Amino acid sequence: MSKPVSQPSPNIINRARGPRGFGGPVVRAKNFSGTIRRIWRYMEKQKSALLVSILFVLVSTLLGLAAPYLIGKIIDDYIIPKDITGTVKALVLLGIVYLTTAVFTWLQGFMMVRVSLRTIRKLRQDLFDKFQTLSLRFFDSRTHGDLMSRVTNDIDSLNNALSQSVIQIFSSLLMVSGVAIAMFSLNWVLAIVALLVIPLMLSITKKIITYSGSYFISRQRDLGELNGFVEEAISGKEVITLFGKEERMNEQFSIVNERLRGSAMAADTVSGFLGPVNNFINNIGLGLIIAVGAMMTVEGMATVGIIAAFVTYSRQFFRPINQLSNLLNMFQSAIAGAERVFEVMDETPEIVDKAAAIIADSLKGDVEFSNVDFSYQEGKPILKNINVHVTPGEKIALVGPTGSGKTTFIGLLMRFYDVTKGTVKIDGTDIRDYQLGSLRKRIGVVLQDTFLFSGSIMENIRYGRLEATDEEVIAAAKMASAHQFIKHLPAGYHTVMTSGGTNLSQGQRQLLAIARAILADSDILILDEATSSIDTNTEMEIQKGISRLTEGRTSFVIAHRLKTIEKADRIFVVYQGEIVESGTHQDLLKNKGMYAEMYESQFQI
Ligand SMILES: Nc1ncnc2c1ncn2[C@@H]1O[C@H](COP(=O)(O)OP(=O)(O)O)[C@@H](O)[C@H]1O
Ligand SMILES: [Mg+2]
Repeated sequence: MSKPVSQPSPNIINRARGPRGFGGPVVRAKNFSGTIRRIWRYMEKQKSALLVSILFVLVSTLLGLAAPYLIGKIIDDYIIPKDITGTVKALVLLGIVYLTTAVFTWLQGFMMVRVSLRTIRKLRQDLFDKFQTLSLRFFDSRTHGDLMSRVTNDIDSLNNALSQSVIQIFSSLLMVSGVAIAMFSLNWVLAIVALLVIPLMLSITKKIITYSGSYFISRQRDLGELNGFVEEAISGKEVITLFGKEERMNEQFSIVNERLRGSAMAADTVSGFLGPVNNFINNIGLGLIIAVGAMMTVEGMATVGIIAAFVTYSRQFFRPINQLSNLLNMFQSAIAGAERVFEVMDETPEIVDKAAAIIADSLKGDVEFSNVDFSYQEGKPILKNINVHVTPGEKIALVGPTGSGKTTFIGLLMRFYDVTKGTVKIDGTDIRDYQLGSLRKRIGVVLQDTFLFSGSIMENIRYGRLEATDEEVIAAAKMASAHQFIKHLPAGYHTVMTSGGTNLSQGQRQLLAIARAILADSDILILDEATSSIDTNTEMEIQKGISRLTEGRTSFVIAHRLKTIEKADRIFVVYQGEIVESGTHQDLLKNKGMYAEMYESQFQI
């Protein structure tokens, strides 16, 4: 289904509240721990890889802890006694320790990227599958770009967090506790001195993180909005150019762009405090260690080697804490993204199969609307009290002014939307009892606006029935009078379509859609202004194909050129959501009602 090019959605502008700086309105994570649990449910399946990764983390952390200890030993046991060969030997050992640490750190990163990418692939797939189950009403109320942003940006930021932060948070915690143990076993007085600045560091980190968290959520949201806007600006380019609205679009874009800058700036500024502030505190800690260590060495309660080891340890101690805060930031932005993803996942599809849904293998084509009311939005009825009974094989035409509800009628029959009141039955069964996929397979539709997928013309026609051979596709194209123009395209049936088929004329696209429907060979056929963009000659030509197609099948044809529907078995005149007249062409002409008026006006020119 393609959507008509829409004007830039006004709500983007309505939501503009000027640049949002610090202290502006922000959104908070709705359910932080719940979201993490859900992410875990996705990661669970990678448990063994995760375990291996944790093992590697353990090894690299232990090796990392050994290095400073070795440095202290080298200073005290070899360098101060001036033992050159011993020093060299010990240095070689130190080199091996550092090298192995590097290898295991890389391995651990590699494993984690693997785990993360697999988790993300599953999540992305689920999100995409979910999009396929959601009904049109869901898409009616959201911008495409924002939804796309959830599949791309939001999932991406989760990927970053999973591949880097999860395991690093773990390794940081491990490193911090390991270093603490090592320090206490080396010299408990110096260890206490080193730990003195920790509470200060933690409280500042906590403050900054809570403050920045809400800005990360705003940033993800504003990014989605920006994408939505760009998507509309690109798909609506024609209309924008046509009405010379480029400047206005630019102005609107700069508002959305500025808002994203604002929230991204706020998020990054606040979280950017972390590094420098913590580094400064770390340096104060270092100073304390050296000062106290020096006094203790003079008193003989410590050695130069121990001070050297502590200097390295304290770096190792504060680096993870520092990292931890960065990682938590990354994590926050990921959680914000994940929430947006799960929000879509939690949408209950409005239209779902019942547990014991009937599979529609083939339909006779008996269609009955009884007491059907329908509204897209509550309180705004579009169809009112529709009662029609169509017998198998009957050719029905729907006519009426634009906006009277003809397409809506078709939408109900296809179950794009469910009725608000009443029932729609096919072959005596409520269509809500059928399995949706099987039902739609039996109904062929040609709409006014045809969407073609990227791919060749051959593939696009074959979309009607995937197992059709090339010969069948060409036969269908001939019947739809599409063969002529396809033949003259540079690559014939292998011509590739771009962005929805805009490299063909709208009439040509309609011909392809008709070929698609012919190929699909459905039991019920719907043509909603399917020939509105086709010239009269070609239309007459396709009429032959169409009448062969509708032969013996229930069909619904909506057309404005009343000439083309004269032969219908019954014509329904729809006016403001009600069927005001029905009967054959002759009946309606005799009636001298709305139809007769419409018919005459078309021939008075
Ligand atoms: N997705 C939608 N959401 C809300 N209103 C809609 C939607 N589609 C159509 N409408 C409204 O329903 C009415 C009937 O539209 P439609 O059935 O497309 O008319 P027709 O096909 O006869 O020209 C119109 O007033 C239109 O504004
Ligand atoms: Mg319509």
